[in-house]
Amino acid sequence: MFLVFEGLDGCGKSTLIGNYKTHLEGLGRQVYVTREPGGTPLGEELRSTLLTIKKNADFKISPRAELLLYEASRAQHVDQVIMPKIKEGITVLCDRFTASSVAFQAGGRTLKLQDVDWLNSFATSNCKPKKQVFVDLSYSDCQRRKLGMNQALDRLESEAAEFHNKVYQSYLDQVKQNPKDWLVLDGSLNPDELLKSLIFNLSQLE
Ligand code: TYD
Repeated sequence: MFLVFEGLDGCGKSTLIGNYKTHLEGLGRQVYVTREPGGTPLGEELRSTLLTIKKNADFKISPRAELLLYEASRAQHVDQVIMPKIKEGITVLCDRFTASSVAFQAGGRTLKLQDVDWLNSFATSNCKPKKQVFVDLSYSDCQRRKLGMNQALDRLESEAAEFHNKVYQSYLDQVKQNPKDWLVLDGSLNPDELLKSLIFNLSQLE
């Protein structure tokens, strides 16, 4: 089985992945957790390049170059890790995948959706997850959770909010367009409830 977890930063997907891994291992399943960008030595190098460039205010990466780096990481990840693990019968849980490029590079950065879609299928050789799990929590709720308080955002934070709100909207659009590909979980649940909700919803598919 190949499952992908998507959502905004702070929605709780990483905790959920860890808890689900523990749950599956308790059932005797072999589980491999991985992430994008990253997941391979090449991917981790691209990840550190991407995340450093993002933090560097003096240098703005071209949106097309950014997309190609995410896709390069993805192609290597599919060939070197995801496909081989699936073939070995190992359950692969992946933190972000193709939908992140749609959400961030098309939704957030306004590249054309058809370009992102095409590059996604090229990079993955059409390797698709069984389900994409969307941990649904809006940007303001993610921020509130991070800050642990209920304050209004200042001007700079609001600029960032505009980008993240577009990313969030893209996730909602993706779910709406292909509901069968997605499992939507309520990100406001606590970690235990979220895990239960994932297990319950997946059991309904079997
Ligand atoms: P990370 O620290 O892993 O963020 P998170 O905890 O939210 O997953 O950094 C990954 C960043 O890369 C995150 O901001 C989302 C972004 N990203 C894209 O813009 N496009 C992509 O295709 C992928 C996989 C990630």
